[in-house]
Amino acid sequence: MPRAKKLRVGVLVSGRGSNLQAIIDAGEAGKLDAAVVVVVSDVADAYALERARNHSIADVFVDPKAPASREAFDEELISVLTKHQVDLVCLAGYMRVLSPRFINHFHHRIMNIHPALLPSFPGLHVQREALRHGVRFSGCTVHFADEGVDTGPIIIQAVVPVFDDDTEEALAARILKYEHQVYPRAIQLFAEGRLEVKERRVFCKGSEAERAVREGWGYIQP
Ligand code: GAR
Repeated sequence: MPRAKKLRVGVLVSGRGSNLQAIIDAGEAGKLDAAVVVVVSDVADAYALERARNHSIADVFVDPKAPASREAFDEELISVLTKHQVDLVCLAGYMRVLSPRFINHFHHRIMNIHPALLPSFPGLHVQREALRHGVRFSGCTVHFADEGVDTGPIIIQAVVPVFDDDTEEALAARILKYEHQVYPRAIQLFAEGRLEVKERRVFCKGSEAERAVREGWGYIQP
């Protein structure tokens, strides 16, 4: 069900922004009922900001050293996102834990992407841990953010195999290709109003969307 008005997406980043790029590209290709309206970084020279500028999207650096506290920093983020009338906040390689105030302000309107099959391997050094544990499959997860680190109700996942000769870099690169597919897809499901959160599970309304999510739970081909 296409929306009359496009969903306004604000993206929080800390680094290179390849997921941001995938979301921008999907929007520009007409695959999303959503558009990125602002990109906010806590790192002044994050390449993601340049990507935003390349597409004439507002880019904002919020200096984490300036505000007195994490709460004050998050207040600034809220005010930037509110100024841009953001409906959905997407964390795309944003490496800070959000305050309860931020999470409550955008309740179930914040998504995060993580390069593992959560709840396995949250946090940092994800591929190193996956290889250390000898898992046969890894992948990526898009979930609604809550107050934890890489926790919160799971929206969509993609699975990739882990090979015996994998390095951290090789596994990360294999997963990243799927990140770029599942994030725009999760945003589109949200834009269509099809995601419903009950306790810590996400249900997808509508048979077509349910099929999409079910595919997401399996192995997504490029
Ligand atoms: C992505 O792999 C994303 O899943 C990960 O950071 C990378 C950012 O890449 N996020 C996390 O680990 C969150 N815990 P990008 O800047 O190229 O999108």
